Amino acid sequence: MEFDCFVIGSGPGGYVAAIRAAQLGLSTAIVEKNERFGGTCLNIGCIPSKALLDSSELYARLRERGAGAKSSVRHDLESHGIKIGRLDLDLKVMMARKRQVVEKLTSGVGQLLEGNGVRTFNGIGRLVVGGKVEVSAADGKKQTLKAKNIVLATGSVPTALPIFPVGRDGFLTSTEALSLKSVPARMVVIGAGAIGLELGSVWARLGAEVTVIELLDQILPGMDSEISRRLRNILGKQGLQILTGTRVLGYEKAGKGKRGNSRADGSSAGSGGAGGSAGVVLSAEGRDGRKQQFAADVVLVAVGRRPYTEGLGLAVLGVKTQEDNGRVIVDERFQTSLAGVYAIGDLIPGPMLAHKAEEEGIAVAEILAEKPGEVNYETIPSVVYTWPEVASVGKSEEELKREGVAYNRGTFPFRANGRALAMAEEEGLVKVLAEKSSDRVLGVHIVGPWASDLIAEAVTVMEFGGSAEDIARTVHAHPTLPEALREAALDAAGRAIHILSRKKS
Ligand code: NAI
Repeated sequence: MEFDCFVIGSGPGGYVAAIRAAQLGLSTAIVEKNERFGGTCLNIGCIPSKALLDSSELYARLRERGAGAKSSVRHDLESHGIKIGRLDLDLKVMMARKRQVVEKLTSGVGQLLEGNGVRTFNGIGRLVVGGKVEVSAADGKKQTLKAKNIVLATGSVPTALPIFPVGRDGFLTSTEALSLKSVPARMVVIGAGAIGLELGSVWARLGAEVTVIELLDQILPGMDSEISRRLRNILGKQGLQILTGTRVLGYEKAGKGKRGNSRADGSSAGSGGAGGSAGVVLSAEGRDGRKQQFAADVVLVAVGRRPYTEGLGLAVLGVKTQEDNGRVIVDERFQTSLAGVYAIGDLIPGPMLAHKAEEEGIAVAEILAEKPGEVNYETIPSVVYTWPEVASVGKSEEELKREGVAYNRGTFPFRANGRALAMAEEEGLVKVLAEKSSDRVLGVHIVGPWASDLIAEAVTVMEFGGSAEDIARTVHAHPTLPEALREAALDAAGRAIHILSRKKS
């Protein structure tokens, strides 16, 4: 049996590549080691985290001003005139709903693969000499299949910090943090990236006391710093304790039977189902040398991810990887150093994002079908699903300054947007950065309600090489949140209508 295209790994990169290859008439197969298709994103990443983010946000809104509420800034149902009585949390049901969402989507992927005529294998795929893939099934049976082209799409796994034993003493990766059996009293999150802030938000909303410790000087490093500062401020008001410029040095187990020692009220905490841990005390050091200790029942280690290449047979076949981070080296056609072997998604350089992997999956399939597949890396949006959400595309102000690009900057606060006010979602702003000489949009950054959806318009405009004036002269329905983007684009030319722009033109 010989396939035109054999994909290893069925995450958003792999399954999309397989579907597109089959659509283009290539005989296609895909192998997945897990029971379900969909990879990290659908099973233990984007999708279950969004299910919990949506559930926990509903709970947090209802809980507002109720017992344990720490914030006065979030959406307050009482301000809508809605009063509720007793509020209960059934975490088991919340988790079951999350599983149902995952099951629906992963079985949908199976149906799509089948419907497109993709041959599916369950097992571990490994490259073998001569353009072949060996598939080892769970029952130990092996078969070797021949392929003209092989696409590696095995994704990534969490980066470990050697000093912390994930799986013991309450240390978790995102996988476990998506399935805790009870709400921990105190959670420390190491790393203020997307995972740390999203899952930190989930557990804080459900009642945990959450401390986020970040090594660098801002949360979401790399994000436009004004947006990052604004989000930090908002999350702080929601009750997340965030420390930046702080290095975690190590930990000690809390005394036997004790649950840590720093909780002011001395109350005990559940272990959150993390292996029955009695809690730990982490020690950390700020940039100024100040030492601090943090008691925690669970510690989420969210310091990044690394490509997952174990057992793929790369070294044996001489497939080259980057020395510093293990990413597979590919050319502009996604071909590795071994002819006929391609790689996409988290395995190769670039942001580790599902939609980036999907685009690469489509591009590589089109290249294999001798079509001009390519990905525009300038317009890959990035979203963090806190509430409010953060979304951005293109260059940040810091990047433009570093590159010496002259730009106009327009901003618009949601507090001046009618729909946001009606929704009681006044936090945040939209920022448009446009090249001074041409007015071309170079970057859009949003912190605010449904930023994840709002960014799509900016991505489309940038994909078409559009200008701030293009956004400004496009009719936006009123009253809607996207009007904030239009007003920010108008402000870039100093002529916003619903705020006082600094300059006139
Ligand atoms: P990340 O790279 O986004 O963030 C990790 C954070 O940990 C960084 O801020 C880093 O400075 C910090 N850090 C590193 N070492 C540290 C240390 N020793 N102590 C304290 N802080 C330390 O990685 P994250 O959040 O683990 O996510 C992994 C990947 O998954 C990322 O590429 C991310 O973009 C992607 N992802 C995307 C999501 C989204 O688009 N909404 C959601 C979840 C993950």
